[in-house]
Amino acid sequence: MSFKNPTDRWGPVSQVLHWTIAALIVAVAVIGLWMDTLPRSPRTIEIYALHKSIGLTILVLATLRLAWRFYAGAPATLAGLPRWQVRIASLTHAALYAVMFAMPLSGWLLNAAAGYPLQWFGLFNVPRVIERSEALHEFAEGVHDIGFWVLLVLVVAHAAAAFHHHLFREDDTLRRMLPGRRISRTGESA
Ligand code: HEM
Ligand code: HEM
Repeated sequence: MSFKNPTDRWGPVSQVLHWTIAALIVAVAVIGLWMDTLPRSPRTIEIYALHKSIGLTILVLATLRLAWRFYAGAPATLAGLPRWQVRIASLTHAALYAVMFAMPLSGWLLNAAAGYPLQWFGLFNVPRVIERSEALHEFAEGVHDIGFWVLLVLVVAHAAAAFHHHLFREDDTLRRMLPGRRISRTGESA
């Protein structure tokens, strides 16, 4: 049995990475927005640390995912989809990959430039790669702030498109990313 992506659907490794990263992104974003509203306290610092650890995990998983994507390829495009839709979907996927990296990297940078320590779930210290810098801190903070809203718009559009295909066009777009579901294999979209 191959774990690579067959031509008609996403394989198990791609699916696990897709849905794990999606869940972690929702968690890290909710924690990020929430922690911003909390008063300074030791508990708040722990919540910031949790945000950073989950964010770093996303960075590692996104790297694995990109490598797997190059190695395992992608299923064939569903037949019957207009070219412009396929093009927009590819651009959206590329942009999602870009923010999947830009968000944790800018978070890491803003944290390091502010001189804050960084640990992964309290297990080990992540090395500081740069010196303290107010200018760099502000730049990375700007990228982190704007990047989040870009991410939000992309994810909402991306998920809405997936549900639109599933509910209204009744094609296999969403089923191909879900485990154990039978797909029509006709390749035809409604
Ligand atoms: C996909 C990964 C990540 C997402 C979606 C994310 C999202 C967010 C959000 C929504 C906020 C609050 C609003 C804002 O300032 O934009 C925030 C703040 C913050 N994040 Fe992240 N984050 C991610 C990864 C990381 C990582 C890896 C680190 C550090 C290693 C980090 C460090 C911070 C810090 C220090 C703040 C507070 C910034 C401030 O007070 O201005 N984030 N993040
Ligand atoms: C409810 C939320 C989500 C749904 C319903 C969803 C659904 C899907 C579906 C059905 C596909 C396959 C599209 C195709 O075969 O052309 C897909 C692919 C993809 N999704 Fe999502 N997704 C969600 C959240 C996310 C999130 C949060 C991210 C990352 C930030 C993401 C990034 C991607 C990427 C990059 C692809 C392209 C596949 C690849 O090249 O790895 N998705 N998604």
